[in-house]
Amino acid sequence: MRSSLNKKNLEVKIGGMRLKNPIMTASGTAGYGEELSAFYDISRLGAIVLKGISLKPWQGNPPPRITETPCGMINSIGLQNVGLKTFLKEKLPFVKKKSDVPVIANILGNTTGEYAKLARSLDGEVEGIEINVSCPNVKKGGMAFGLDKKAFGKLVGRVRGDIKKSVMIVKLSPGAQDIAEFALAAQEEGADAVSLINTIPAMAIDINTRRPLIKNVIGGLSGPAIKPIALRMVYQAARAVKIPVIGMGGITTGQDAVEFILAGATAVAVGTATFINPSAPLEVLEGIEAYMSIHGVKGVAELIGGAVTGCS
Ligand SMILES: Cc1cc2nc3c(=O)[nH]c(=O)nc-3n(C[C@H](O)[C@H](O)[C@H](O)COP(=O)(O)O)c2cc1C
Repeated sequence: MRSSLNKKNLEVKIGGMRLKNPIMTASGTAGYGEELSAFYDISRLGAIVLKGISLKPWQGNPPPRITETPCGMINSIGLQNVGLKTFLKEKLPFVKKKSDVPVIANILGNTTGEYAKLARSLDGEVEGIEINVSCPNVKKGGMAFGLDKKAFGKLVGRVRGDIKKSVMIVKLSPGAQDIAEFALAAQEEGADAVSLINTIPAMAIDINTRRPLIKNVIGGLSGPAIKPIALRMVYQAARAVKIPVIGMGGITTGQDAVEFILAGATAVAVGTATFINPSAPLEVLEGIEAYMSIHGVKGVAELIGGAVTGCS
């Protein structure tokens, strides 16, 4: 289903980063680009967001760490990753060679200093750096940075000073009571964009064994089950800030993506849908193009934040 629309009309800007279309992968659901490139040309995406990386390799949580739920999945991978050194030496060169679109690294840490070191090492090596603030702050009793306004502001402000060349994106935590407040704080501390939502804490129980289906008991829910919540949060964040918002959470079709864009997202990321259909990001893109053709929309920019208030 390819439309006759000029591709240029799909272009969006995130800080200084020009995306030929608004579709990204969601961190952790597309590896480091290797797996997806076996299915399609990843240069067709607007940008590639890679799996989160820490300074040193992380082992992740013990299995079972994934379970299916109605309209979604729960994961407790525990941010397993190869660490910065291997990332720079092996993973990043591969994805850069395979694609000519912006590459966005996703970083995670347990202290402000760890995030800052990662940011310094990656600055200029990738077009964008997405900061996952949903990790526990070990120096402050383990509360996630994204839930503690003071720690959050300090983290974003500190990392801002270390990112001079790449676009800085702050990935907000959906556990925040007032998401608009955190989006605004990110903007005030100098973020170029915010992205949301990350997974929502959830659990599932096998009634026959009477055991949780996830070894860690609680994991993160993603997929269509969280879409209406994500859409609401994107709407609230987008109304609060002037910087671009990247929306994600259950996006599976072009219609889902258009909803997020109308709610205020400049770009969208496709995550869990990729596990069912690796080509989902491209199908979402084609769905947006089809919508634009049907509704006579000349550019994605026309749609951003275009939802009218009041019910239909
Ligand atoms: C298996 C898995 C791994 C993930 N790993 C990361 C990660 O490393 N860093 C991050 O910021 N978000 C991570 N996420 C969250 C996704 O990027 C995304 O925010 C969330 O899943 C909602 O989008 P979706 O419903 O389209 O999957 C992960 C999600 C899943 C399902």
